[in-house]
Amino acid sequence: MAERARVAILISGTGSNMAALIYAARAESCPYEITLVTGDNPDAPGLALAEAEGVAVTRLPKPTKDSRPAFFAQLEATLQAADVDVVALAGFMRILPADFVERWSGKLLNIHPSLLPRYRGLDTHARALEAGDPHGGCSVHLVTPEVDSGEVLGQVAVAILTGDTPDSLAARVRIAEHQLYPRILADYVSRPLDAGWIETRVDALARRLAEVTRKTSHGSPGWAVGPEKTAKLFAIIADHHHGEEAVGLLVKASGADEMTGLIEARPEHYYWPKYYGASGWLGLKLNRRDVDWDEVSDWLERSWRTAAPPRLTRLLRAADDF
Ligand code: GAR
Repeated sequence: MAERARVAILISGTGSNMAALIYAARAESCPYEITLVTGDNPDAPGLALAEAEGVAVTRLPKPTKDSRPAFFAQLEATLQAADVDVVALAGFMRILPADFVERWSGKLLNIHPSLLPRYRGLDTHARALEAGDPHGGCSVHLVTPEVDSGEVLGQVAVAILTGDTPDSLAARVRIAEHQLYPRILADYVSRPLDAGWIETRVDALARRLAEVTRKTSHGSPGWAVGPEKTAKLFAIIADHHHGEEAVGLLVKASGADEMTGLIEARPEHYYWPKYYGASGWLGLKLNRRDVDWDEVSDWLERSWRTAAPPRLTRLLRAADDF
């Protein structure tokens, strides 16, 4: 099995969602492990539970108005030191600063007790009852600087019963949360290793370049540039090609010297693809959790330039020379 994603959980209180994530991670097939539990309240009951379950806990001092920046710096250092891939907020009742969210962009998930975009913020159950909604529910979403507004990754609707109070509804929503969060987190951390997801992401980047069409190379998905009849390949996905470990993106480098240099310097990022390497294709290993997609984008553009007809590259060359 591929290495499990390292997940930190941030809590402020009970930690029942935290517990659900910890217990789900006990399954051998779970694609994540809980590396750390921390938060903004050193007395949170959830921390004692995590400790009792053998999970590493860091108790940070409760932030005051003045110590807020120091608290978030400490939190960041704690997460860095634990080398986490993803941070799961589970009843973490504090708004993260925008710069923190931006640095961890795409790596922060939150669970919220409503069917977003309905009822961002607090008192979600009371608001759903007051509105006469047929359902409450919960959502797992990506965290962005605007509170409870990031992409929704999954939801469960929970029927509202006659006579429900905010507490009775909250209790049933909590059951749904415990099902939802582990499942969505597992799917989310599996994405970067999935060939289909990698292909979709490469496709979006490749299509930003001019005159790009899809073309296969010996059955592998690829991207070509130029008029359909003469379109020339500049990128290919090699999905465990001939037993290779990588889901690789093959791009054109300048030649064997550059390729061997890059592979020697960063063997975890580059490889010499079987058969293709001999024709100047360099392999970028993309089934990793820490892919720099800007770098992938740069390689696609560079490779595109080697294959594009001169009428497309002339202007770019003029801009480069300028
Ligand atoms: C959960 O219901 C969670 O959705 C909510 O706090 C509760 C924490 O319970 N989160 C928010 O309201 C975030 N805005 P737990 O500590 O037992 O997991």
